[in-house]
Amino acid sequence: MTSPPTCPPANPWRLTTAPMMDWTDRHCRVLFRHLAPHARLYTEMVTTGPLIYGDAEQHRRHLQFTEIEHPVALQLGGSEREDLARAAKLGADYGYDEINLNCGCPSERVQRGAFGACLMAEPALVADCVRAMIDAVPPSVPVTVKHRIGLDYDESYDFVRDFVGTVAEAGCRVFIVHARNAVLKGLSPKENREIPPLRYDVVARLRVDFPTLVFVLNGGITTAQQCVDLLDVAPDDADEAPHGVMLGRAAYHDSYMLAHAERALFGTPLPSREQIVECMIGYTAREIAATQGERFHTRVRDVARHVLGLYSGQVGGKAWRRMLSDARLLNHDDPELLRRAMPYQSEYDDHRQPLLDALSG
Ligand SMILES: Cc1cc2nc3c(=O)[nH]c(=O)nc-3n(C[C@H](O)[C@H](O)[C@H](O)COP(=O)(O)O)c2cc1C
Repeated sequence: MTSPPTCPPANPWRLTTAPMMDWTDRHCRVLFRHLAPHARLYTEMVTTGPLIYGDAEQHRRHLQFTEIEHPVALQLGGSEREDLARAAKLGADYGYDEINLNCGCPSERVQRGAFGACLMAEPALVADCVRAMIDAVPPSVPVTVKHRIGLDYDESYDFVRDFVGTVAEAGCRVFIVHARNAVLKGLSPKENREIPPLRYDVVARLRVDFPTLVFVLNGGITTAQQCVDLLDVAPDDADEAPHGVMLGRAAYHDSYMLAHAERALFGTPLPSREQIVECMIGYTAREIAATQGERFHTRVRDVARHVLGLYSGQVGGKAWRRMLSDARLLNHDDPELLRRAMPYQSEYDDHRQPLLDALSG
């Protein structure tokens, strides 16, 4: 159903989906693409290690994507300029439309590798890495940075302003701002996405101070209306508005909201959930056939886990989740399971009842 947009939007970052480890793999991104034909999709973070030291099979495992995912950005994690430059080139050779550097992840594991959010304390190093990455890829592939607005409990605006200024001097033009601090000690990654307060006003100040750069606002956006309110502001406020929004958890847990955001921001007609499921059945069948006999072959469960949120809040949505999480049903590895799990619009006319009864038995 969905083909890549023929006419790219004037602003390629208007609607974007967040990099999320273990979530936004290529199957998830295909779902996102069907829901939002104009969104820019980001991979999970890929660290430079497997790209530098891995063989061709490992590269394929980490970098492979499906054509319809375009435009798709590869997010890299690392802090060694040579390694990042080589990984960026590999990504560009694979056909990624953008290379993004992670300067926002606060996990201890990532800190031990001295990258992610702790890189914000070293803007000169980030600038150096960005310069090397830009030199390694064709000019048509932008190198961008995703970052927080501060570290620990330091709320000074100057810190993030100087970070952006230094990295921009190295040639980075696009900054994706998760608009809360990263607390490096004492908070888990999950808490770091919830506890430090969101401060969208910091992004507004960055917009004013750096009028030639592109800023994408990330953090806490849960509805299509919020996207519109943030982006399509009155002309008097336009100098402070972000150029784009990035949706993370909401797009994953309630994926149909992405179709609403697409409609609100681009006027694209809403597909039905059933049309999306049909697309994913076809995709899953093609994937299974194409990877038959391979070491990392695709199974129905690899795709099914990402569509669990498609009927979030809908009649029959709980049974949809239950069926697509049930090992006994998934073990058949039949993409038609998605059709069988699809809710009817009425809970009183549920074609799935015999199967559900069997699962309870
Ligand atoms: C499960 C999970 C994994 C994440 N992995 C990454 C990652 O690999 N790279 C990154 O920059 N951010 C990562 N994030 C942070 C998101 O990209 C995003 O910045 C954050 O969730 C805030 O946006 P939201 O409120 O729309 O979810 C992750 C978030 C979640 C929930």
